[in-house]
Amino acid sequence: MSHFLIFGLMLVTCSIAFASDPSPLQDFCVADPKSPVLVNGLVCKDPKLVQANDFLFRGLNIMGNTTNAVGSNVTAVNVAQLPGLNTLGISMVRIDFAPMGINAPHTHPRATEILTVIEGRLLVGFVTSNPENRLISKVLEEGDVFVFPEGLIHFQQNIGHGNAVAIAALSSQNPGVITIANAVFGSNPDIPGDILAKAFQVDINVVYQIQSKF
Ligand SMILES: *[C@@H]1O[C@H](CO)[C@@H](O)[C@H](O)[C@H]1NC(C)=O
Ligand SMILES: *[C@@H]1O[C@H](CO)[C@@H](O)[C@H](O)[C@H]1NC(C)=O
Repeated sequence: MSHFLIFGLMLVTCSIAFASDPSPLQDFCVADPKSPVLVNGLVCKDPKLVQANDFLFRGLNIMGNTTNAVGSNVTAVNVAQLPGLNTLGISMVRIDFAPMGINAPHTHPRATEILTVIEGRLLVGFVTSNPENRLISKVLEEGDVFVFPEGLIHFQQNIGHGNAVAIAALSSQNPGVITIANAVFGSNPDIPGDILAKAFQVDINVVYQIQSKF
C-alpha cells in the first residue's frame, strides 16, 4: 500500500473515532487562560502548578434567574468556568425553567447532550435533518433521561405547574450554542430581509418585524 493510501485510511479511521472532542494525550491539560498561544482547545497550565480547585466548580445548586423573554436560564459548566475540563470532551449545564418557560430551539455544533429532569415536567424534542425533518418528542417526568444527538435542533418547555430544573451533560468541553431565532433573525449585521422572506415564505415586513425583536 502506498503511503498516500495509508494516510487516507488513517484520516477515515480518525474521523470515525473522533466524532466529538479528540481524546487527551496525557492525564490532564488544565487550561491556562492567560496563554497568548492559540490552539485547538486551550494551552495546558504547567502540571506542577495545577491545584485541586482547577477541577472544581461550585454553585450548580443555585437557581438561575428566569425573569427574561423565554422564561429559562442555562448555567453552563464548560471549560470557560472549569479549566480542568480542557481536552476531556465533556461538560454540563443546569437549566432552570419558570412555569411555561422554554429553552428555545438551538443546536450544539460540537456535542451530543444527555439531559435528566431533577424537578418538574418538560416537553422536549429534536428535529432530524433534511429531507425528513421529523420531530422526535417526549414528555419527561422527574428522573427521566433524554438524549439530543449532536448537531440537531432541539428544545425544552416547562409544562408542569411550578418551576422545573434539568441537569444535562454534553460531549464537548466547549459544546457551543446556536440559538436558531437569534442566529437567523438577530445576526450582526442582519441577513438581508429578502433572503429571509424567501426562505420563510413570508412578506418582507414580517421579517423586519421579527428582526426588530432581536
Ligand atoms: C441567568 O441567571 C444568572 C444568575 O441569576 C443571571 O446573572 C443571568 O443574567 C441570567 N441569564 C439570563 C439570560 O437571564
Ligand atoms: C432577575 O432578573 C430580572 C430582570 O433582569 C431583575 O429585574 C430581577 O431583579 C432579577 N432577580 C434576582 C433575584 O436577581
